[in-house]
Amino acid sequence: MENIKKDVLFTKETIDRRVKELAHMISRDYQGKDLIVIGILKGAFIFMADLIRSLRIPCDIDFVRLASYGSETVSSEKITITKDIETSIKGRDVLVVEDIVDTGLTLSYLIDRLQEQEPQTLRVCVFLDKKERRKVPFEPDYVGFDIPDHFVVGYGLDFNEKFRFLPDVCVIAE
Ligand code: IMP
Ligand code: MG
Repeated sequence: MENIKKDVLFTKETIDRRVKELAHMISRDYQGKDLIVIGILKGAFIFMADLIRSLRIPCDIDFVRLASYGSETVSSEKITITKDIETSIKGRDVLVVEDIVDTGLTLSYLIDRLQEQEPQTLRVCVFLDKKERRKVPFEPDYVGFDIPDHFVVGYGLDFNEKFRFLPDVCVIAE
């Protein structure tokens, strides 16, 4: 597993630069707001840690963990929350942070659940976006990088729980 061939797609330096740009946009958009950043475990933990440390505004944080069951090729894939947020988001400005949006199933499920709790605003920031893989329409509000349909690891993203620690984002070579 550890010696699977990987090609660097985004270096640590490229990622750092882009994360700072995103943080700049978010700081501007949420100036004076009651921001709570909700990270989706496990994948988003590194991105979120870097992102919030580059913000120029205060924020609270919380986490949610989701599990999906069923065939990855079926769009009726069942998603459940295995660890919910522990903070009330009613009337607050919520920014969900995720590592990657692929089919869109995970984020559209979570957004529907969070919307029921009546936040003031609800937006999504993803580090990576694989637009061509969507099964349900989903448009994130902030995107680090658009990527083609390749399986990527590193910077929090895993392949069977491996490679999350890599500082660069790499493509698993075919
Ligand atoms: P979606 O519901 O298909 O949008 O699923 C998104 C989830 O699939 C992400 O949170 C990741 O955990 C996982 N995922 C999708 N593509 C990749 C990838 O290229 N590398 C690692 N994980 C991925
Ligand atoms: Mg994930």
